[in-house]
Amino acid sequence: MKFAIPLALLASGNLALATPEPVQPLNHQLHKRALAYSEPHYPSPWMDSKAIGWEDAYEKAKAFVSQLTLLEKVNLTTGIGWGAEQCVGQTGAIPRLGLKSMCMQDAPLAIRGTDYNSVFPAGVTVAATFDRGLMYRRGYALGEEAKGKGVTVLLGPVAGPLGRAPEGGRNWEGFSPDPVLTGIAMAETVRGTQDAGVVACAKHFVGNEQEHFRQVGEARGYGYNISETLSSNIDDKTMHELYLWPFVDAIRAGVGSVMCVYTQANNSYGCQNSKLLNNLLKQENGFQGFVMSDWQAQHTGVASAAAGLDMSMPGDTVFNSGRSYWGANLTLAVLNGTLPQWRIDDMAMRIMAAFFKAGQTVEDQEPINFSFWTLDTYGPLHWAAGKDYQQINWHVDVQGDHGTLIREIAARGTVLLKNTGSLPLDKPKFVAIIGEDAGPNPFGPNSCPDRGCNNGTLGIGWGSGTGNFPYLVTPDQALQARAVQDGSRYESILRNHAPTEIKALVSQQDATAIVFVNANAGEGYINVEGNEGDRLNLTLWKEGDALVKNVSSWCNNTIVVIHSPGPVLLTEWYDNPNITAILWAGMPGQENGNSITDVLYGRVNPSGRTPFTWGATRESYGTDVLYEPNNGNEAPQQDYTEGVFIDYRHFDKADAPVLYEFGYGLSYTTFNYSNLKIEKHEVGEYTPTTGQTEQAPTFGNFSENVEDYVFPSEEFPYVYQFIYPYLNSTAMSSSSGDADYGKTAEEFLPPKANDGSAQPLLPSSGHHHPGGNPALYDIMYTVTADITNTGKLAGDEVPQLYLNLGGPEDPKVVLRGFDRLRVEPGEKVQFRAVLTRRDVSSWDTENQDWVITDFPKKVFVGSSSRKLELEEVLP
Ligand SMILES: *[C@@H]1O[C@H](CO)[C@@H](O)[C@H](O)[C@H]1NC(C)=O
Ligand SMILES: *[C@@H]1O[C@H](CO)[C@@H](O)[C@H](O)[C@H]1NC(C)=O
Ligand SMILES: *[C@@H]1O[C@H](CO)[C@@H](O)[C@H](O)[C@H]1NC(C)=O
Ligand SMILES: *[C@@H]1O[C@H](CO)[C@@H](O)[C@H](O)[C@H]1NC(C)=O
Ligand SMILES: *[C@@H]1O[C@H](CO)[C@@H](O)[C@H](O)[C@H]1NC(C)=O
Ligand SMILES: *[C@@H]1O[C@H](CO)[C@@H](O)[C@H](O)[C@H]1NC(C)=O
Ligand SMILES: *[C@@H]1O[C@H](CO)[C@@H](O)[C@H](O)[C@H]1NC(C)=O
Ligand SMILES: *[C@@H]1O[C@H](CO)[C@@H](O)[C@H](O)[C@H]1NC(C)=O
Ligand SMILES: *[C@@H]1O[C@H](CO)[C@@H](O)[C@H](O)[C@H]1NC(C)=O
Ligand SMILES: *[C@@H]1O[C@H](CO)[C@@H](O)[C@H](O)[C@H]1NC(C)=O
Repeated sequence: MKFAIPLALLASGNLALATPEPVQPLNHQLHKRALAYSEPHYPSPWMDSKAIGWEDAYEKAKAFVSQLTLLEKVNLTTGIGWGAEQCVGQTGAIPRLGLKSMCMQDAPLAIRGTDYNSVFPAGVTVAATFDRGLMYRRGYALGEEAKGKGVTVLLGPVAGPLGRAPEGGRNWEGFSPDPVLTGIAMAETVRGTQDAGVVACAKHFVGNEQEHFRQVGEARGYGYNISETLSSNIDDKTMHELYLWPFVDAIRAGVGSVMCVYTQANNSYGCQNSKLLNNLLKQENGFQGFVMSDWQAQHTGVASAAAGLDMSMPGDTVFNSGRSYWGANLTLAVLNGTLPQWRIDDMAMRIMAAFFKAGQTVEDQEPINFSFWTLDTYGPLHWAAGKDYQQINWHVDVQGDHGTLIREIAARGTVLLKNTGSLPLDKPKFVAIIGEDAGPNPFGPNSCPDRGCNNGTLGIGWGSGTGNFPYLVTPDQALQARAVQDGSRYESILRNHAPTEIKALVSQQDATAIVFVNANAGEGYINVEGNEGDRLNLTLWKEGDALVKNVSSWCNNTIVVIHSPGPVLLTEWYDNPNITAILWAGMPGQENGNSITDVLYGRVNPSGRTPFTWGATRESYGTDVLYEPNNGNEAPQQDYTEGVFIDYRHFDKADAPVLYEFGYGLSYTTFNYSNLKIEKHEVGEYTPTTGQTEQAPTFGNFSENVEDYVFPSEEFPYVYQFIYPYLNSTAMSSSSGDADYGKTAEEFLPPKANDGSAQPLLPSSGHHHPGGNPALYDIMYTVTADITNTGKLAGDEVPQLYLNLGGPEDPKVVLRGFDRLRVEPGEKVQFRAVLTRRDVSSWDTENQDWVITDFPKKVFVGSSSRKLELEEVLP
């Protein structure tokens, strides 16, 4: 039964034939409404040979794919199984043409599970730099390291989670709850990674906003008895204006792959949701690369192929089952006619085009020189099967000089939240460092698997989005070195629970006490101190609040440094006059101590801006993680009733006070804003796209003789649990092993699923233009303003361009542009940003297109989302 369509999918109506039933408002009580429903969108769009930026890659892919047999195409699309070889995921190889197995490897901030690699700052810290150049350089450096290890596809960057709820466990892997900031970070990271020769993977698409209930097995392990994963129920407008937005930027930047999610969207699984994959990603936004499943997020064979999935990862139905929804089943599906040739050809084309687009070649593919499963030099090549013992790790050092870049990003991503004059430090007489977060993990920085603990200073969160530290500079080390250099007295107490000793130290004459505190978060498969990925609360860990309150009651020059994945509640102490400075140092990566020292001592004048809002209470955010199943044993339902109003958009709408608003951050100098000018450009009218695609192309031929598909010979070196494209015998049904074998496409696929005829283009789509209708990117306005450094130190300012779209349903302001500008004391520089048609448009659900509403609109330029120094009506 599973191979056809699971009951949940049928119930979801994703494959229903008729017009969908109207959906009740999402905020209805669960038991009173029908479950949210996802409309069918078929057929799956095929690649466009003329797509801008993809023409060469398409030609190369065409030349390659046209030579392939069906078995070879299946090999490209299907992972060889969990632990089958060295990487976290690998495809089958094509030995006949010299194509090695492609290596998919985590993750967004480090090459996971290997050694002699760097650990970069997390996405959230990169976002805080508001610096496109640093975003690009980090992407490039990550790409170089991945390339040096033999990785084909690097599994990042992350725009899902976007950060709907601050408690979300993996928010730090992504950038910011603001879609424009995240979109720019996505695009720069994608360009950097792919320029370095590795395919990037925009993930997790989409609605993967919390860890709880993302996987059935994981949830059951925690005692939640659910039968299907969480359904993220997101309305169309919110999808376009918020969650989809940064993925579109990644598509426009040419991203080669997108990872679909564990969760459901409107009760249809993310990796077989035709609305998400066929309609939004490929049809509307012209995505030309390939969609790969998250690990075990695939639940069907032919149905997921028809809904737009192109690569099955890691290939087995569940880890180490030795069975696959694809592999032999995909071979059979093409042979028995349930999957048309054009669809498997399109999968193969998309995969090979992404490979070529990133500059890779079949002739000199880097060999994979590490094993994700062990750091031992020798071991089984086929890890899960324990077979083929040989050298599997070459311990290649790929760090280059990335430590310098890491230090710079983390320093520039550190946000100065409060400073009453104690900073920058200038040869302080006596420095007292307090807190476990200033010191080392007593068992070493890599002692907890996938960083699944909170010991010592926090460099990054936990989960698959991590890597092994080559070293981790602690604040204690770096600050002590600086103190010695300056001739300052220096003492540190690297504990949170030592009130007697701490009091004795910090209450001494002339103490500058720097207290380090943290909160942590990570991925759902690891439970750290009761946090099943998502944070249980927004307070500091290890009684950090008590520590700060104690120290500041004993010392009138207390500086607080926070390492955290997002906001923490500072309400109880942030305005204490003895607390003379507060810094958010995010998740800085391996140069942790050096970066914070640079900022505290003014070697770097702080210019980080908070990429999220610091609310007074947890409730004030208006959104939260769903911690308990709310639909019996069925899929928990998470209705995004807040729409686009997350983070600052929510606080502004509620007119609620905040501690520190989105975009806020201090400098050691001051800036003045003046002279806002808006220039309007003559651009043509918006023309909805019309016309049709080509008909679905096919590449090469395949034999219809079943004998050509069985395992090549008796001597074939079959590896236990390995996923192959071959059949066990010419008996198709028993080779499949599917109890339901024999169902025709008409019996289980929606109409048009296999229709390869020319298809109408959507008005919002861009014929040959990835990223939607090209007119959306027409530059309609140029906005300029003058920024003057009115202080005594050189510094960087981050002017921000906000827009009010004017409608009663629109947020008070939305970010639309920013820049980081270096300004010398007394100097005046010009800030310049543009507004595209997309920037001034809203999603019109009725016309299924972007529209500029008639409401009068306003432009703001300011130093944060609430310090809008300049404003002007949009002409
Ligand atoms: C084909 O898929 C079905 C699930 O739909 C699975 O039970 C079967 O084992 C698969 N066959 C192979 C050869 O992996
Ligand atoms: C989910 O349902 C809402 C409400 O009908 C709809 O606007 C939206 O497009 C649907 N999304 C998906 C992915 O099906
Ligand atoms: C498929 O991939 C496997 C594993 O890399 C390889 O052994 C096999 O030869 C490939 N089959 C074909 C037909 O290329
Ligand atoms: C889980 O729920 C199912 C019903 O969906 C029930 O049959 C099963 O007994 C439950 N298991 C546990 C451990 O409660
Ligand atoms: C390490 O971290 C774990 C979990 O975060 C905690 O329970 C334990 O007490 C810590 N151990 C040390 C030695 O700090
Ligand atoms: C919040 O969670 C952390 C980590 O689990 C825990 O140490 C802390 O005590 C919790 N705070 C409150 C107020 O419960
Ligand atoms: C500030 O610090 C001094 C010690 O320097 C202490 O006497 C005083 O109570 C503190 N004030 C507050 C508000 O904590
Ligand atoms: C702290 O208190 C001392 C002694 O009363 C005083 O000299 C000093 O200026 C105070 N420092 C701050 C930062 O208020
Ligand atoms: C195919 O053969 C292999 C090796 O004998 C066996 O492990 C597997 O279960 C067979 N597959 C099916 C679907 O019977
Ligand atoms: C074709 O093969 C697929 C994959 O094994 C299977 O699910 C389906 O039932 C088969 N259909 C027919 C008509 O043989």
